[in-house]
Amino acid sequence: MKVIIAENYQDASKKAADIMEKIIREKPTCTIGLATGSSPVGMYQELSRRCKEEGLDFSKIHSVNLDEYVGLEPTHNQSYRYFMDSNLFDHINIDKANTYVAKGIGDVEENLKEFNEVLDKADIEIQVLGVGPDGHLGFNEPGPVLFDGAHKEILDETTIDANARFFASRDEVPRYAVTMGMGNIMRAKALLMIINGNKVDAATKLLMNDTIDPMCPATFMRLHRDATVVLEKKLALEIGYIKE
Ligand code: GLP
Repeated sequence: MKVIIAENYQDASKKAADIMEKIIREKPTCTIGLATGSSPVGMYQELSRRCKEEGLDFSKIHSVNLDEYVGLEPTHNQSYRYFMDSNLFDHINIDKANTYVAKGIGDVEENLKEFNEVLDKADIEIQVLGVGPDGHLGFNEPGPVLFDGAHKEILDETTIDANARFFASRDEVPRYAVTMGMGNIMRAKALLMIINGNKVDAATKLLMNDTIDPMCPATFMRLHRDATVVLEKKLALEIGYIKE
């Protein structure tokens, strides 16, 4: 696993954007796997800028997203479809018909069937990842077993707590989500994780331990042949990954 230490969030966003840009320029018709959450927002801003100012071309790129809340309309301002449109797709020259975010409303089984069909066909060149404070990837919550394919998850109380900041009240946070499974994530040709915020526990388990632990799904990153983690110096110092 490659670890890139960034000076701050802005630097992390640029370094992550560099990795994405290289792939998009080399393979302008590829499929990229995208993530929501605050961690990749700066990278999305940087990619949007490079599209506008430096001709980074998304016109033939396809995308598939990690997950979506169950019960939120795509127009809901906390749905992940809305997040992707407002943080990235509305600012780049991607054809929205080529972007896929799983459906959060309607029949869950039907939606999962469609999600799995999309994933079976997609050959994801690089999968962007954040990490939940409990170590979740997408919405693959810690547990004794993890799932291979796309499935429905019951969100952990800690995830509901962490995501409550985006909703008017904790009660409004959906209790379920559909997510790519760990197998879908691991089958991407490359993984790019941006760790931002208070993720000491997950970062320690990922970077300072030698174990693969289903109670911290992020540790599965260690099994991938082409995985990159971008983290800020502050956090790297805090977990003892680097010394002053
Ligand atoms: C949500 C998403 C994850 C994301 C996590 C961390 O739970 N489902 O994919 O990684 O939030 O979010 P943040 O980057 O805001 O800390």
